[in-house]
Amino acid sequence: MCGIVGYIGRRRAAPVLLDGLKKLEYRGYDSVGIAVLDRGKLAIEKRSGRVAALAKAEELSGTIGIGHTRWATHGAPSERNAHPHRYGKIAVVHNGIIENAAELRAICEARGEVFSSETDSEIAAHVIAHYFEEEGDLLRAVYRAAGELNGSFALAVLAEGKEEIVCARRASPLIVAEGEGEGFVASDIPALAAKGRRAYVLEDGEFARITREKVQIFGADLALRLREAFLLEEEELAPEKGRFAHFMRKEIEEVPEAIQNSLFLSDTLQNKEICEVLCQTYYFDIVACGTAYHSGLCFACAAERLLRVPTRVHIASEYRYSDPIVPRGTLTVAVSQSGETADTLAAARLAQERGSKVLAITNVVHSSLSRLADFTIFTGAGREVAVAATKSFHAQLAALYSLLAVLAKYRRSCLPPLEKFPDLAREVIQKSECAAGWSPYFLGSKSVFFLGRGVDRCAAMEGSLKLKEITYLPSEGYAAGELKHGTLALVDGRTPVVAIITDPQLADKTMNAVHEVYARGANVFLITCFPALCTQKEVTASVLIPACPSAFSPMLSVIPLQMLAYHVSLAVGNDPDKPRNLAKSVTVE
Ligand code: F6R
Repeated sequence: MCGIVGYIGRRRAAPVLLDGLKKLEYRGYDSVGIAVLDRGKLAIEKRSGRVAALAKAEELSGTIGIGHTRWATHGAPSERNAHPHRYGKIAVVHNGIIENAAELRAICEARGEVFSSETDSEIAAHVIAHYFEEEGDLLRAVYRAAGELNGSFALAVLAEGKEEIVCARRASPLIVAEGEGEGFVASDIPALAAKGRRAYVLEDGEFARITREKVQIFGADLALRLREAFLLEEEELAPEKGRFAHFMRKEIEEVPEAIQNSLFLSDTLQNKEICEVLCQTYYFDIVACGTAYHSGLCFACAAERLLRVPTRVHIASEYRYSDPIVPRGTLTVAVSQSGETADTLAAARLAQERGSKVLAITNVVHSSLSRLADFTIFTGAGREVAVAATKSFHAQLAALYSLLAVLAKYRRSCLPPLEKFPDLAREVIQKSECAAGWSPYFLGSKSVFFLGRGVDRCAAMEGSLKLKEITYLPSEGYAAGELKHGTLALVDGRTPVVAIITDPQLADKTMNAVHEVYARGANVFLITCFPALCTQKEVTASVLIPACPSAFSPMLSVIPLQMLAYHVSLAVGNDPDKPRNLAKSVTVE
């Protein structure tokens, strides 16, 4: 999703900005641009496409600048709509969505102002320019403009003649940092990281003024705020693909490590306060989106089956507008790889307002979710670059199952052991390579069904999401028993079916669905831990995963599904790392 960088110092700004933008590339974007102040005058370069398309901009001189990678929301991906947007003496980069842009635009147009893009973001440049004319002070102009903008924004702003960058944040992440004679801003820590830099995460409603000498942070009333800085670590080496053709494939290979690093290791689980909260937890509410929502579904199966803790799993974007009932004794668990997903943050906030403690499960230290939550368990997946989540899903499961294991201890109950999962996952990765040979059955298919019951249905939903997002094939993750209540009408010889069967109590039941789809001409691909099922005549091909406690089986059964999506994506000629229209971190509603 959109990314922001900004620099003020003694070095030339353009190379620093381009370097920062490259570090944000993994988030997904469709156009790029930078604005540099050179002897008090703005110079702007923008392009549709990747950061590399902006190479010429490296020659711009000037030591103050802002840059942006855009993921189109309002207005097509094009050079015209790329940021920075300029009006008068003002240049702006914006992340978020300005909801009253149309109204404000009408007011500006009535003043005779002409717009040069279709974006909601350009309005910020106009409104700030208007107040800058009146105030002559950039911070005050941004402050007054922010008061008129509805929606979410992270803004970094330059003004001709001003040796500073001014920033504002509302519900979209922004981090500012200072070094020796330099100041920085970015929407994401990797774009800033360098040993010794002092950084501050802006809170909602805050503003910042960055000069060569210092970073100043102001509250919603523009009063100066004193804040503890945290020290940034050594610049993280940009992840490399190594011997793999794509990050997604490499990240599947890293699943065992991600599990290992997320099992029981979090200090949070030893923390006295969370222990007290867990002792009084009678219900879990999970709030999450996409793959993280699916890991929540898997957790719910385990929590209810093994410990009988009633658990509701909410799509965060639904929860936030649902007027939720939050009974006493509810612990809300917000699951998010990035920790920046706007809907998950809003849902977690609402749960707190309704009296629930929030436990965050996230992969990113200093993320907005970890700062908002009452407690955080950091998953140990390491940086995930491919847009499609793989190892982070397993890391979330490992953390969530560890949480259950701790709860089991308090309840003097016993859970099946988790320690073997890294090794078992390694075995499954090897076995899953055969999915490459399944691709021809999926090419030219009308749609694909992923079927399962109970916990296998949760795995099926994740398998379907993965296939959709990187192959663009229509697919559904479906409850096997529900098929004949309507959807079976869709099944024919051009509808491959992937069945997941890991629960001994439900195996025969799901096999009934397999018979039904086979009878309609479908090719069936099976992920199971029961060897006898693999040789059934209905099964075109299978991956036999090791036996494991079925409540935890998605930790293994989802691996072949990820691998299948990866190989089909290659077979249809897509780049699995960068699916169209999608972004790694969804910071807008
Ligand atoms: C799918 C995928 C998305 C994310 C979702 C939530 O492969 O990556 O569905 O899972 O956007 O993102 P986080 O976990 O960062 O909140």
